[in-house]
Amino acid sequence: MRDAGGTEERPSAGPADAADPAPAVQEDHEGRAPVRQRGKTVHGEAANAGHRVLAPDDAEVEAYLETALNAPGPARTPEDRPGGAVPRGESSQSEPDTIVVLDFGSQYAQLIARRVRELHVYSELLPFDTPWREIARRRPRAVILSGGPASVYEEGAPRPDPALWTSGVPILGICYGLHLMAHELGGDVVPTTKREYGPAIVTVTEEPGAAGLFAGLDRSQPVWMSHGDSLVRPPAGFRATAQTDSTPFAALADPDRRLYGIQFHPEVVHTPAGREILRNFVIEIAGARPTWTPANFVETTVSEIRSRVDAHARATGGDGKVICALSGGVDSAVAAALVHRAVGDRLTCIYVDHGLMRKKESELLRVTFERNLGMNLVMVDARERFLSRLAGVTEPEQKRKIIGDAFIRVFEEEAAKLGAIDFLTQGTLYPDVIESATSETKAAQKIKTHHNVGGLPADLRFTLIEPLRYLFKDEVRAVGVELGLPEAMVMRQPFPGPGLAIRIIGEVTAERLDTLREADWVVIDEIKAAGLYRSLWQSFAILTPLRSVGVMGDGRTYANVVAIRAVTSDDGMTADWAKLPYDVLGKISSRIVNEVPGVNRVVYDISSKPPATIEWE
Ligand code: XMP
Repeated sequence: MRDAGGTEERPSAGPADAADPAPAVQEDHEGRAPVRQRGKTVHGEAANAGHRVLAPDDAEVEAYLETALNAPGPARTPEDRPGGAVPRGESSQSEPDTIVVLDFGSQYAQLIARRVRELHVYSELLPFDTPWREIARRRPRAVILSGGPASVYEEGAPRPDPALWTSGVPILGICYGLHLMAHELGGDVVPTTKREYGPAIVTVTEEPGAAGLFAGLDRSQPVWMSHGDSLVRPPAGFRATAQTDSTPFAALADPDRRLYGIQFHPEVVHTPAGREILRNFVIEIAGARPTWTPANFVETTVSEIRSRVDAHARATGGDGKVICALSGGVDSAVAAALVHRAVGDRLTCIYVDHGLMRKKESELLRVTFERNLGMNLVMVDARERFLSRLAGVTEPEQKRKIIGDAFIRVFEEEAAKLGAIDFLTQGTLYPDVIESATSETKAAQKIKTHHNVGGLPADLRFTLIEPLRYLFKDEVRAVGVELGLPEAMVMRQPFPGPGLAIRIIGEVTAERLDTLREADWVVIDEIKAAGLYRSLWQSFAILTPLRSVGVMGDGRTYANVVAIRAVTSDDGMTADWAKLPYDVLGKISSRIVNEVPGVNRVVYDISSKPPATIEWE
């Protein structure tokens, strides 16, 4: 769209828990503010100082294993989609109906896919220039064109394969997608003098009771607008179905060809009827079946994993042995539970207890996987080994390197004890799949560059099983619930691979670990009691290297200062300090000082990211 000038505006930031998609940077549809690059802060710097592993919260631990075992990258074909391994046919129940979202550069593109999936219809995000034959191979029920920062009349503006327009598949264009459809089919789009960005009211101009995008909705709808170009003449066959004060073409429809367009964003929470509009398109107009449910996913995935492992065992005469690294995070837990349901005893999970976990986490893991699920679980008590290697180390990156290296060594030893292994389970998520440029997982690449380690001998080769590669994080949690995993595991906030070691500023010792573990327990306990846990991206304690003077009874104390950090965030790339209620902060503080030996002062961190990071090290 045309540059309408202006600075960045954004919907108010909300809790991280996928409830509010408010982005850190506006879609620069009209403003040409730089589109936020993933992995970069709004200032364009590497958001994580180059060493943070993000999407799956336990990616780091899995990557240690992947690296240690020298596993080849996953081969991903266009058939690699849910139910894709099952023979095709109209009657195939395991292959979900699919909506393809073409990404024209909008930062909301992933959100559109997630919103469609919330309607229980599988949705896949593809680059805007994906050839039609690739799209057709997915047999989409409909295609949604996302917004984007370009202007359709500019040279080099992103365009889809023209075969899309004559495919007969229902199409919904959003923002840039609407302009693109209008422009390509013979309408006129021009730069506007009056840029429209932010909340607006659209008036539906279709007759009440008409079918279409607005079926069942009130005439007047608050929406989130964003455009600097305007449609002035729709193509032949289209009619306007909604208007605003500034445009008579806020929505268009050509019902005969099942082509629709809207000027506003139905995917953001600031368009309250957005879900209904998407539902009208996806279910009513496109006729997609809402079968993308956790229960169906579990059933299909379990049968796919089982047939894959069985086929491999038949072909090689082996056992079809699978291993999985459990980190305590939600992704590896859900991945392991899925694989276990598929192959039972042929799966062995390895959990390295490095002593850097939070209170009760290792116990929860043991109870859940060993006792409740009856899994083969190798729990390696490597606490002493990690502590002795960390002795005297204060530099954060040095800590990370040591922990990564120690992990790999432990895994190598444990894996070697298990004998011939065929598969390695990874909790790779959909955002990693769509973003990874290479076949090797991003996490593994990072580990390789940061910990200059070799793998096991090259004749030890595994293939990856990535049962979560079609899922967004919130879907992983829903699958975890479906599999009966405990809520404390499934709803857990992200936790860094190096664990408490990077929350102890200065040297990591057994005593300091105990102090932090107890303080951290109080934070989580009170945050949960206040009902805030799920609305925060992360909340935790940090043990500072400071000592301060205090009084206790009649005596003076000279003891540790603990800091509290609680942030809201959408993806960890940017974050805001949480405005925790004073009484919650007060309770956390007095409990820590009273219950944790050696602490006499508690402070609250009120820095946002950037310029601060979420972790202190
Ligand atoms: P920062 O501190 O960079 O953190 O704002 C962003 C997100 O990454 C997590 N984090 C890590 N995760 N290994 C990990 O697996 C690490 O070394 C690491 N450092 C930070 C952090 O908890 C937050 O979610």
